[in-house]
Amino acid sequence: MNSSPVTASFDNLLQQLREHLVVGEDKPDENPDVTLRCLWALAAGQSLAVSQAAAFVPGRLDPAAQTRLLGLVEQRLQGAPLAHLTGRQDFMGRVLLASPAALVPRRETEQLGYAAVERLRTLGVARPLVVDICTGAGNVALGIACHVPDARVFAADLSPEAVELAGRNATFVGRPDVGFRCGDLLAPFDEPAFHGTVDVLTCNPPYISSARVEGMPLEISGHEPRLAFDGGPFGVKIIRRVTAEAPRFLRPGGWLLMEIGAGQGDGVARSLARDPHYDTVETHQNTAGQIRVIEARRSSDTGSEHATDQQ
Ligand SMILES: C[S@@+](CC[C@H](N)C(=O)[O-])C[C@H]1O[C@@H](n2cnc3c(N)ncnc32)[C@H](O)[C@@H]1O
Repeated sequence: MNSSPVTASFDNLLQQLREHLVVGEDKPDENPDVTLRCLWALAAGQSLAVSQAAAFVPGRLDPAAQTRLLGLVEQRLQGAPLAHLTGRQDFMGRVLLASPAALVPRRETEQLGYAAVERLRTLGVARPLVVDICTGAGNVALGIACHVPDARVFAADLSPEAVELAGRNATFVGRPDVGFRCGDLLAPFDEPAFHGTVDVLTCNPPYISSARVEGMPLEISGHEPRLAFDGGPFGVKIIRRVTAEAPRFLRPGGWLLMEIGAGQGDGVARSLARDPHYDTVETHQNTAGQIRVIEARRSSDTGSEHATDQQ
């Protein structure tokens, strides 16, 4: 790493970013200073996530690297996600690979991952079976696997590109045993080993209404897969399917955990509370007081036939 600081250029570019960079609410860590450190490191040949770039000392760049840096700053100002430029994203204390193949994992989704970790600790089952669907880059599955080392974790996504990235992430974080499959929601697990056996089932589904997807900022709509966001006309199409299909896979006393959109919490909680396949519903609010994670426990005294009927 170069170590002599080039403060003048850094200051000029930082000023440019301070004036023009639009930082989305869903990426609260990407302030102009750390963004510039990420891009500077990248121009110098190092791919760093935001957490790693905070301590990066920008050194002298040769002319070619300076040109690369100016291009990177321009791309970022034009809306290219920082994680797509660096190829790295932080999630649950680990650095993951990121690419346009899958949604860039969001800080807010850590609430789902940590709720699942806490649920697994409370359950206290040895070698618990965990399934994560709509896995995208594999972030929730791998976050759980890293925090609960004895968990047997499987995950799936409809997008083959996402599954490929998730598989590479499994190796990248040192959990190559996490199995990634491709297919529609729980279809990849429709086999006896997963029927009525899953301790914790996690899902961060697409939950934005189709109309709102159209109006999302360019940084999202122009760069991330639409499949990751579009939850149908009211945003709850996939959520409803997951809550209906999950009981067939959860063991009695097993838990479904889902991230949901702001404003969807009360409705989803009410419909889960009415569903006889679940006997307990718990919600988690974010710091703004919005329900963003919902948990429901598979009841012990209902069969799975009704769940199939609802699909
Ligand atoms: C909101 S993203 C979540 C990605 C990742 N789990 C995360 O937390 O960042 C939703 C994911 O669901 C996937 N998806 C959409 N429809 C699906 C379906 N019917 N079956 C499986 N996956 C689906 C998308 O490809 C996308 O990766």
